[in-house]
Amino acid sequence: MLTMKTLAFTCLLCLLLLLTSGRQGTSVSVPDDPRPCPVNAPCRCDFSTIMCNNLTVTEIPTFTKVNATWKCWTLNMNYNYNIKTIPSGAFSNIPFCSLQIGHNGFEIIEDGALTGSESYLDSVFMQFNNFKELPNEIARMPNITMLSIHDNPINNLPETMAFASTLQFLDIGSPAMITWPYSIRYLKSVWSLSMYKLPMSGLPLDAFEGLEDSIQSVSFSATKFKSIPKALKTLRKMTDLSFMDDVELACEGIPDDAFRGMDSLTDIYISNSSISSVPNLSDIPTLSHLYLTNSPVTTWDPTTLPDQPLLQSVSLANTDFDHIPTVVRRIKSLYQLTLDNTKVSHIGPGDLAGLQKLQFLSLIQTPLVNISMDAFNETYTLQGLNLDYTKLSGFPRAIERLPALRFVSLQNVTIECSCAELGWMKTWIGIKQLMDGGGQCHNKHMYLTDYIRTEVPKCP
Ligand SMILES: *[C@@H]1O[C@H](CO)[C@@H](O)[C@H](O)[C@H]1NC(C)=O
Ligand SMILES: *[C@@H]1O[C@H](CO)[C@@H](O)[C@H](O)[C@H]1NC(C)=O
Ligand SMILES: *[C@@H]1O[C@H](CO)[C@@H](O)[C@H](O)[C@H]1NC(C)=O
Ligand SMILES: *[C@@H]1O[C@H](CO)[C@@H](O)[C@H](O)[C@H]1NC(C)=O
Ligand SMILES: *[C@@H]1O[C@H](CO)[C@@H](O)[C@H](O)[C@H]1NC(C)=O
Ligand SMILES: *[C@@H]1O[C@H](CO)[C@@H](O)[C@H](O)[C@H]1NC(C)=O
Ligand SMILES: *[C@@H]1O[C@H](CO)[C@@H](O)[C@H](O)[C@H]1NC(C)=O
Ligand SMILES: *[C@@H]1O[C@H](CO)[C@@H](O)[C@H](O)[C@H]1NC(C)=O
Repeated sequence: MLTMKTLAFTCLLCLLLLLTSGRQGTSVSVPDDPRPCPVNAPCRCDFSTIMCNNLTVTEIPTFTKVNATWKCWTLNMNYNYNIKTIPSGAFSNIPFCSLQIGHNGFEIIEDGALTGSESYLDSVFMQFNNFKELPNEIARMPNITMLSIHDNPINNLPETMAFASTLQFLDIGSPAMITWPYSIRYLKSVWSLSMYKLPMSGLPLDAFEGLEDSIQSVSFSATKFKSIPKALKTLRKMTDLSFMDDVELACEGIPDDAFRGMDSLTDIYISNSSISSVPNLSDIPTLSHLYLTNSPVTTWDPTTLPDQPLLQSVSLANTDFDHIPTVVRRIKSLYQLTLDNTKVSHIGPGDLAGLQKLQFLSLIQTPLVNISMDAFNETYTLQGLNLDYTKLSGFPRAIERLPALRFVSLQNVTIECSCAELGWMKTWIGIKQLMDGGGQCHNKHMYLTDYIRTEVPKCP
């Protein structure tokens, strides 16, 4: 819609251009459209981004060459289930920097469809389509750094890929990938590799041959893996390892030496697995972040930690722990501990003993009823405490021992805001820096934080 404001702006622009061109010469030329768009409605443009999402048509709309001040475009063409082919010349010399064509019914990109994009094309997102192989038109692009092709019935990569030395991020895999795509070894610059829905139960030992020193981040999602693949031990530079929705992954597939050799590993992320006890981490002294979530974990043996653990954050959210695992007391470096949606029902006097670096503790939606008055004796630096949706019957006075607390969140906890209940805070050393939090007084129309700030100082 053309508003008065844009009209006025356009006319002002015309005038300026007329004036400048008038000054330079005698001929008055038609000025370029400052926001050209190579394609008509229902597609639309927002500066250099072309949006053609959710079309109901069966063919790619017509693109025409326009003059723009930017050198390449982003094509955002997702959720078009009725188009099967991107024909040759479809984008008649519209140079693309980024091609975002995921969630479509595409089967074919004809040769010549991307003519003109060769030097510009940097990222290609074509996941969730019906491609049976990587289209040659993509394989011949020399400058791609990011390629997402998972959830296509592709079972290998071609041997020749013009972007083999520029590609850094690769997402690949689908139930059709019944054998390992060995052509991955030609992609010498890939450092981030994500694999989806692989139907095999593990990987060949030589899966990453040739990539030992390049891959840093590996993630598997919704595979049928039963164990942590041994092939990963060859990845000397791997810092991040992630398993998401690999529901067959269980303790039996993770022997004590499963991580031996992964000397650079700092982050392990496992979610939605069948793991029932924390794997043996004693071979990874560099580990600093452990996320083992949405899994039926109930135990954590102290002998699974390295001698001097350097773990900074641990999340065991959505596991079946019914107490704060005693092993955490050995992790003197611990900075953040998350036990949301577990079965933890109390914090005992020694549960956090020795955790002098702990800054954040979260127990959202646990059946927590009780926090020992001595629970926070040694966690002097605790800054944030999230106790939303717990079963606490009131404000936990244990925080009295926390001089550095900045927020305590108590959404959905019944808080009686009275001097009898909260008056002690008047002389609490922590009150000055307590910034914010959540939670409401159940006996007054007031936020807990406001009551603490305005009413507590008036208590006798
Ligand atoms: C297109 O469809 C998808 C999936 O149905 C939806 O999530 C998205 O919001 C839609 N986008 C537009 C621009 O209508
Ligand atoms: C683009 O610019 C060139 C030179 O400035 C001009 O000759 C041509 O007509 C323009 N094309 C369009 C489609 O505006
Ligand atoms: C790749 O892109 C860079 C700039 O990012 C450019 O200098 C180079 O010429 C391109 N390479 C090819 C083969 O087009
Ligand atoms: C866990 O993964 C399975 C298989 O990949 C999936 O079907 C399921 O929805 C996932 N569960 C959750 C809670 O995400
Ligand atoms: C973990 O591995 C270490 C070293 O291999 C071993 O000493 C320890 O007993 C193992 N822990 C468990 C619970 O198997
Ligand atoms: C809370 O813990 C204290 C000891 O820390 C105990 O004496 C008390 O019975 C517990 N209360 C509940 C409701 O569990
Ligand atoms: C915690 O500190 C209090 C007061 O300083 C002390 O009386 C108590 O014994 C300590 N408890 C533990 C378990 O260290
Ligand atoms: C807590 O949430 C539940 C449901 O989400 C609600 O029924 C209940 O009234 C809430 N209690 C408080 C104290 O906010």
